[in-house]
Order: sequence, then C-alpha cells, then structure tokens
Amino acid sequence: MSCAHEAGIRPTTFGVLRLPRTVVVGASQRFAVAGIAAEIGSNVLVCTDPRVAASEELQELVRTLEGQNLTVRVFGETEAELPVPGIIACVEELKGQDIDVIIGFGGGSCMDMAKVVSVLLTHGGVPSDYYGEFKVPGPVKPVIALPTTAGTGSEATAIAVVSDPGLGMKMGISSPHIIPFASVCDPELTYSCPPSLTAATGADTFVHLIESFTAITRNPTPTLASERVFVGRNVLTNSLALDGIRLVGRSLATAYKDPDNVEARGDMMLAALYGGIVLSNAGTAAAHAIQYPVGALTHTPHGVGVGLLLPYVVRHNFSAIIPQLGQIAEALGRDIKGMDARDAAVAGVEAIDEVIAAIELPSTLAELGVKENDLARIAELSLNSKRLIDNNPLPLNLAAVGSIVQAAFAGDRTIR
Ligand SMILES: NC(=O)c1ccc[n+]([C@@H]2O[C@H](COP(=O)([O-])OP(=O)(O)OC[C@H]3O[C@@H](n4cnc5c(N)ncnc54)[C@H](O)[C@@H]3O)[C@@H](O)[C@H]2O)c1
Repeated sequence: MSCAHEAGIRPTTFGVLRLPRTVVVGASQRFAVAGIAAEIGSNVLVCTDPRVAASEELQELVRTLEGQNLTVRVFGETEAELPVPGIIACVEELKGQDIDVIIGFGGGSCMDMAKVVSVLLTHGGVPSDYYGEFKVPGPVKPVIALPTTAGTGSEATAIAVVSDPGLGMKMGISSPHIIPFASVCDPELTYSCPPSLTAATGADTFVHLIESFTAITRNPTPTLASERVFVGRNVLTNSLALDGIRLVGRSLATAYKDPDNVEARGDMMLAALYGGIVLSNAGTAAAHAIQYPVGALTHTPHGVGVGLLLPYVVRHNFSAIIPQLGQIAEALGRDIKGMDARDAAVAGVEAIDEVIAAIELPSTLAELGVKENDLARIAELSLNSKRLIDNNPLPLNLAAVGSIVQAAFAGDRTIR
C-alpha cells in the first residue's frame, strides 16, 4: 500500500498549506527566540501562565531578550482553557503600551492568549467580535509561539480557542492572519510535564493527526481555499499526518511512562507540530465537535476528551475511511501484508485503540461523570460546531452524533 491511489483513495492534486514564516525545532532552540524577536520589533510582550512566570526558563528568556536590547513586559496570569475575562483584563492592563511582538510561552492556553491579544491590540474590540472563520480583518502584530506541551500544535495553527462563560462553551477564532509569525519548538521545555499532562496533550496531538488524515475530501474548486480555513484532506497535509502518526506510535507511551526519555520527548514535540500544521489546513472533525459540550459539562482537559472519543468516532466513520485506516495501521507498526482492505482497516482501528489505552485515559463518557440524560443535549450542542461537523468524512446529523455519544457513554466499540 505505497500511495493513496493504490490504497483506493480518490486521488487529487489539491493542497493548501498555510504556515508560520519560520519554524525552528530542536533541543535548546528556545534560545533562538530572542534573535527572531529582535528582527521584527523592539517592544516585546510575553504572555504566559503563573507556572512559567515563576520558572527559571522565563527568567532566561527575559535575559536573552534584554540582551538584544528589547524592552520586555510579562503578562503571567493566563488561565488554563483561556476564559475570556482574563484576556480582556490583559488587554486592559496593556492600554497605552507600545507592543510590537508578542511571545506566547506555555501550553496551548498561553499561545492562544498571545494570538487573541495580538488581534485585540491590532484591531480593537472583544474576542467575540472574531468568533468563526475569516473574521479577523487583516494582519496582526507578530506572534512567536514557544510551546511547553506537546501538544495542541497551536504553535502552527490559524486558530485560537477561548472559553466564553457567557455562552457556556469554548469558541474558536479561525483566521490565517493569526498563524504565529514564528514557532520555536524546544522539547526540553516539555521535560517537566507530569504523566497526566503528557497523556492529555499527546492524545490531543494524536487526534489532530488522525482526524485531519481522515477528514472529508472536498471538491477542489478555485474558491475553496478562500471560503474555508479548514479545507479537508489534501495532498500537502497527508504525508505530514502519517509521519506524525508514526512518531506518536513510536513515542507517546514512552514519554508517558518514562518522562525523562529525551528521544520520546523530541518525537512528541515534532508530532505536535505536525498535528498543528495538519489540523490548521485540513481540519479536525467529530471528536472535537463532541468534546466542546463534554468539556463544558465535565471540565475534562481537552486532550482527555478528544482522546476518549476518538475510538468511537473512527468506528462510526469506518465505512468512509477504510483505505486511510489501512495506512494508519501501517504507520502504527502493524503488518498488513496480504490483508484485504477491510481487515487492514480493522487493524488500524485496533492500533488506534492501543495508543489510547497505553496512556490510560478514561474510556467512556460515563467515567467522566456524564449522565445518560445529558446525552441528547451533548449531541445537540455538538452540531453547533459546524466547521468541525462539516469536516467529518461521513455526513453527521443529530441521530448520527447521538449514536456516537451513546456508544462513547456505554463503551460500545462495535464497528459500524
Ligand atoms: N489553537 C489551537 O490550535 C489549539 C488546538 C488544540 C487545543 N487548543 C487549546 O489549548 C488549550 C490547552 O492547552 P494545553 O493542553 O497545552 O494546556 P494548558 O496550556 O491549558 O496548560 C495546562 C496546565 O499545564 C501546565 N503546563 C504547561 N506546560 C507544562 C510543563 N512543561 N510542565 C508542567 N506543567 C505544564 C500549565 O501551567 C497548566 O497548568 C485549550 O484551551 C485548548 O482548547 C488550541
């Protein structure tokens, strides 16, 4: 099964790849940030959270920035999952300040904070003015993303996710203008992640890669790239997604069980970056749509929710993604030689289950505290994430989402 065509996947030459202008990956590369910042500005804001704000790494960063004669301000109060009031408080605090470069230093919450602050400092208003796709009217102040988890991939994405308490759910701002100017991915910054965080963030990466690789294939009209931020499966993201899946298969369980394993941490940082690139161009689908209301109800970390849901989503989508599942089986180290396409796809589903089981996530919605009478509401609210629902390889209506949610509640792993 050497190429998509032989695998029976409809061949297309269509591709979209929107990327940061500079991507630097490798151990100790966090020291490259100051040089990159100095090329583009002189007044730097670092958006980070209380953990990083108290760390030696933050002091190191500030020293190297100041060493480049840059003026540095640190906002160290970013809250996990990025509630909107905290973003507004940060922007209020910055009123009247000259800021020309913003560094997002931390997990996805801090990188997304940097993106949203950049939008608000450039174009004014409040986060809700920009919810949805293509609502950011033009370029924004450059953001440098420095992730400490592996991860959300936010370092490479055209999206920022906020928690809106008024709406009771997470909302996305999606625009090519908010892709970071530069991403610096230094796996040493992830060595301090405890196993539970490694599992949650690694699951997030895995779901980005799998959902993007199995996303819908759209008719490649000349307006597709300007009509949608997330265009579906395409030739420019497929090989990166498979490479990322291979890295996760090789290293997620090791990074979880042996946090000091340098090779596994390096693999996962790279996989997270690939996950960000593919999600930002191809887009994710049902697992992400369903996680939004599940997360709002249970306050489960994003990665735990999407990781738990993935085995149920791939089973539901099975008939539409048989060739892709065969390729996933191979990328996850299964020998599928001699198997027919269906058996190879079943091997792919089982290999996905194994990756998730190895990091010991809860395996049903019931284990998260969801009650049977919550299921209808979860299904209904999932449909609100239209861009994600539209990106699923099989069309999804209320009944279809309801059946995935029911299966995930009851632990029913029947292949549809
Ligand atoms: N923009 C995107 O493309 C995108 C994609 C997926 C998810 N997200 C969003 O990202 C957020 C989640 O980000 P996250 O999972 O990286 O976690 P996070 O940034 O919310 O951080 C979670 C916790 O982990 C801690 N932490 C981070 N790095 C650490 C380290 N190296 N060692 C020890 N502790 C560390 C933080 O201090 C915090 O307490 C959510 O809001 C999610 O919706 C965004």
